Amino acid sequence: MPRSALLNVMIKAARQAARTLKRDFGEVEHLQVSVKGPGNFVTAADRKAEEILLQELTKARPGYGFLGEEGGRHEGADKTHTWIVDPLDGTTNFLHGIPQFSISIALERDGIIVAGLVYNPANDEFFTSERGQGAFLNDKRLRVAGRQRLGDALIACGLPHLGRGDLVLAGKELAAVQPRVAGLRRFGSAALDLAWIAAGRFDGYWERDLCPWDIAAGILLVREAGGFVTDLDGSDGMMTKGHIIAGNETMHRELLRLLQGAG
Ligand code: IPD
Ligand code: CA
Ligand code: CA
Repeated sequence: MPRSALLNVMIKAARQAARTLKRDFGEVEHLQVSVKGPGNFVTAADRKAEEILLQELTKARPGYGFLGEEGGRHEGADKTHTWIVDPLDGTTNFLHGIPQFSISIALERDGIIVAGLVYNPANDEFFTSERGQGAFLNDKRLRVAGRQRLGDALIACGLPHLGRGDLVLAGKELAAVQPRVAGLRRFGSAALDLAWIAAGRFDGYWERDLCPWDIAAGILLVREAGGFVTDLDGSDGMMTKGHIIAGNETMHRELLRLLQGAG
């Protein structure tokens, strides 16, 4: 399938950044790490990857703004476009040698996400989407899973950890969901969790306290694969509040009902 110029730019940038990530993943035990906050490590690989993404994306689209997890916001002359980038989503997995991590790149135009890419360098899976054009895994068109019963559903989630999130609330939510579903997973890369919803691997997903770069690309992937994504209050405030729930229409509704009853 021919790709648009925009997706080609995003894919090229991701490939470049992935080169250094792959090299560093191979040497993960020797990696220099610094502590950003409790339980939240930033690797040298992370910062290098973001620099490459900033350079490549800016070279291809001069003037666009850039919001990255590591370097924060770079204003561009073009105020209508902003790249929203997580150079390494799943840092804890990366540090532990677990090949479930990703590069996430989204393009926001006038406040709307118009393109999204989530790439796992460890297995070369490229999840891409453009608004109105569908979602793809490499060249294959994606569609969210069709399951209609929670009892058949494989659900992914994110969980609080040392120094982060509301443990009591998470406990209540787990207690509400666990006994009702076929399986629960916590894989550790929010961007991939959403991409896997788009790919029909997971039936539902929820997580709290995320940042825009964790979810911007994934939200578009899910929607373009026919899925539903909202905040945990059912609104469209995921990017500002950081809470998110996703699935096909039924799974999204049923999971939301369970979680809202849990609090
Ligand atoms: C993290 C991952 C993880 C989620 C965390 C995020 P990072 O991003 O997306 O799945 O549970 O809350 O912070 O720190 O690896 O870029
Ligand atoms: Ca992240
Ligand atoms: Ca990150």
